[in-house]
Amino acid sequence: MVGLCCSCNHRESHVRSEAVIDRRPNKIGAEKHRPLYHFTPKKNWVNDPNGLVYVDGEYHLFYQYHPFSSVWGPMHWGHAVSEDLIHWKELDIALYPDSLGYIYSGSAVYDSLNTSGLGTINNPPMIALFTYHDMEIFESGGEPYQYQGLAHSTDKGRTWEKYAHNPIIKNPGSKDFRDPKIFWFEKTKEWIALIASKDHVKFYSSPNLLDWTLKSEFGKDQGQHGTGVWECPDLFPLPVDKSGEIKWVLIQNINEEGPNGGSGTQYFIGDFDGCRFVNHNPKSTVLWLDYGKDNFAGNTWNNSTRRIFIGWMSNWQYAQQVPTETWKNGMTFPRELSLKKTAVGIRLVSSPIREIERLYTHKHLKYTHLKFGDTIQLDFPIKAIEIQGSVLGKPLGDFELKFVNDLGEELVIAYHKSEKEFSVDRTQSGITDFSEHFPVVQTASRISVSSTVTFKLLMDSNSTEAFFDGGEVVLSSLHYPTKPYTSIVLESKDSGIELKELWIRPLSVGDNTEISP
Ligand code: FRU
Repeated sequence: MVGLCCSCNHRESHVRSEAVIDRRPNKIGAEKHRPLYHFTPKKNWVNDPNGLVYVDGEYHLFYQYHPFSSVWGPMHWGHAVSEDLIHWKELDIALYPDSLGYIYSGSAVYDSLNTSGLGTINNPPMIALFTYHDMEIFESGGEPYQYQGLAHSTDKGRTWEKYAHNPIIKNPGSKDFRDPKIFWFEKTKEWIALIASKDHVKFYSSPNLLDWTLKSEFGKDQGQHGTGVWECPDLFPLPVDKSGEIKWVLIQNINEEGPNGGSGTQYFIGDFDGCRFVNHNPKSTVLWLDYGKDNFAGNTWNNSTRRIFIGWMSNWQYAQQVPTETWKNGMTFPRELSLKKTAVGIRLVSSPIREIERLYTHKHLKYTHLKFGDTIQLDFPIKAIEIQGSVLGKPLGDFELKFVNDLGEELVIAYHKSEKEFSVDRTQSGITDFSEHFPVVQTASRISVSSTVTFKLLMDSNSTEAFFDGGEVVLSSLHYPTKPYTSIVLESKDSGIELKELWIRPLSVGDNTEISP
């Protein structure tokens, strides 16, 4: 029995069970609850996405991985690659723990000018910066136990060599000092590293990825804190709508104190000059990239022309108890981020990446002018499916879309006019008793004042990602029905609202035949 990691106490009460080595063959698709088009490793435990970088036509997804158990333990970096961000090929483990500690979260870049000297100009290296978590020091009650390490690869990430002089960034005396995000800052021609440090983020710069200088800190009195610990930061520029105006977005994941409890992803909008980040909203403004309980530790791909985000689809409140056996947890569907001027100011908007259209088949169902009160009975299970629609009301009233199976289990997606709120209610969604934090109603305030609500729901065997009003409001949420849902019940107690159109698109996921209508 071992107490695990971090000042955040989410793993401390769990048993690290290396004895439970799972060596069953991969049965992706056949296993109950296994997502069909979201990334999950073939087996065992996964948490944060790490080292997101696009190099020579390949998107790399590294991830926090325990190769010997389906619960959290000694952290490695697992590795998968994809050409389209949908079909992933799992590769060998990239980074193993060593005498300096477990390999915690971090990021990767393509050092195309070979500033590090660890490759050549003709074969530039990929560089990964990650946190070493020294479990021995941690367990003996000593401090500090987190510092940053570096590794490089000159064969497209297939093999990695750790730097001989690690740790490359020593701990400045913080208990929590982790999850470095590195990127190239063109104006000063320097590398920047953000490192989360309990209640703030530290900014470092470097000419060569090897020698780092502390520049500034941000956040002690900004945004969401409470009992939460800041983890897994990210920072990038984005244009506001299609204007030439550029703002910098600082993503700051927080564990505990998320919008619906537990883990969450907040963000700030401001400016960055290579040295410090300035928030353009009042300090007390709290903005969430996603209001659902199941999108945490997200980050964006380096070296890509689009700003694509992926998160871990779980929550530390129950990630180790979810009712799957051979693997636990997975990633969100990748989303493209943009900035939009909304009724309440500039906000970060998320849309599922357009590559999802590659999974469309000609077998979609289209309904126009459906009435609330109708039930759509499908003759295929609701597993890998995209549902898109719009509801018009004058004025907009309450409505519900209930996904139901013949056991009476239901997942309810709704709009409530008096609260001006969207909700995802999974209290009766199926298996929910593994944690008191799971069977809950998750809510999010609507931003738009339009009389038409648009929605896009990405549903998979065990999750729904709900994008409302073009992605201004997002709720990502897991569910574990005993049997898949098969019908959609449309309900409203208000008259005069209309489901203008509804598209149901089964997604083609290889040889899975269950999903054809
Ligand atoms: C976030 C996190 C990171 C840490 C990693 C350890 O989920 O706690 O801060 O690097 O997980 O697995």
